[in-house]
Amino acid sequence: MQVVDSIVSLRSTRQSYTSSVAFVPTMGALHEGHLSLIRLAKKHARHVIVSIFVNPTQFGPTEDFDTYPRTREQDLALLAEVGVDLVLLPTLREIYPHGPEAATKVYVPVLGRRYCGQSRPLFFEGVCSVVLRLFHIVNPTHALFGEKDFQQLTLIRQLVEDLYLPIQIVGGPILREPDGLAMSSRNRYLTPQERVLATAIYATLSQLKSTATPQIKQQVQDSIAVLEQVGIVTDYLTLVHEKTLEETEIPANDTRLLFAGYVGKTRLIDNISLGEDPTFA
Ligand code: PAF
Repeated sequence: MQVVDSIVSLRSTRQSYTSSVAFVPTMGALHEGHLSLIRLAKKHARHVIVSIFVNPTQFGPTEDFDTYPRTREQDLALLAEVGVDLVLLPTLREIYPHGPEAATKVYVPVLGRRYCGQSRPLFFEGVCSVVLRLFHIVNPTHALFGEKDFQQLTLIRQLVEDLYLPIQIVGGPILREPDGLAMSSRNRYLTPQERVLATAIYATLSQLKSTATPQIKQQVQDSIAVLEQVGIVTDYLTLVHEKTLEETEIPANDTRLLFAGYVGKTRLIDNISLGEDPTFA
């Protein structure tokens, strides 16, 4: 496994790859969810490139950029173990030569303002801007994103379509802890007590999935109240069409419940498809 910190070095190795290249962008603090994306990447392409970059432009001024876990040595050991060809660990200057504030930005207006975009107004602009840069740097044939960040995955699909990027976007299923909590780098912020509380998120989503009726709107309201009783403050819990992320009140196979909320100070997101989905069984 080769580890590089400059675009020049990355490009020189990338040029030697004559067949398909799958790219997995990450912010590090890798867990089994990332590793499963990499394993999936290996099924799609001959070579796998991973980037680790904690992107400042996707964090709001009061968010956790400074404290976001940085576990470089552990991440590299995991990547070597799972079998990655090339890792890009770029500096801030490499990604934003004019600095993060002055950098050219891209955004997806409608989709980027909904749900997470409401409470994190800079988030998707930051994500799209860095992902587009990384796509230009890496020039992959495939790129993989986890379904846990379902809105992010949908936005990236639109970005790629709108800008005619010749990249196949592949979504990877959510990986869960044995008690159902979706794996996330931010889970390590949870105190032991909060970690127990956090299991209520997936329990609520599963319960809604198995009992969904045409009165889902009321069921969702009741669930938000129950979550609040255990100390989880919901940002949004809503049923959407999977392709468009338009809200709907009619549960169907192609709909998905999206959740974001706070357990203590930690913001967690999760989602569940209302269709047949073996990964959520
Ligand atoms: O999902 C993430 O970890 C980040 O949003 C991404 C896609 C690596 C962009 O910084």
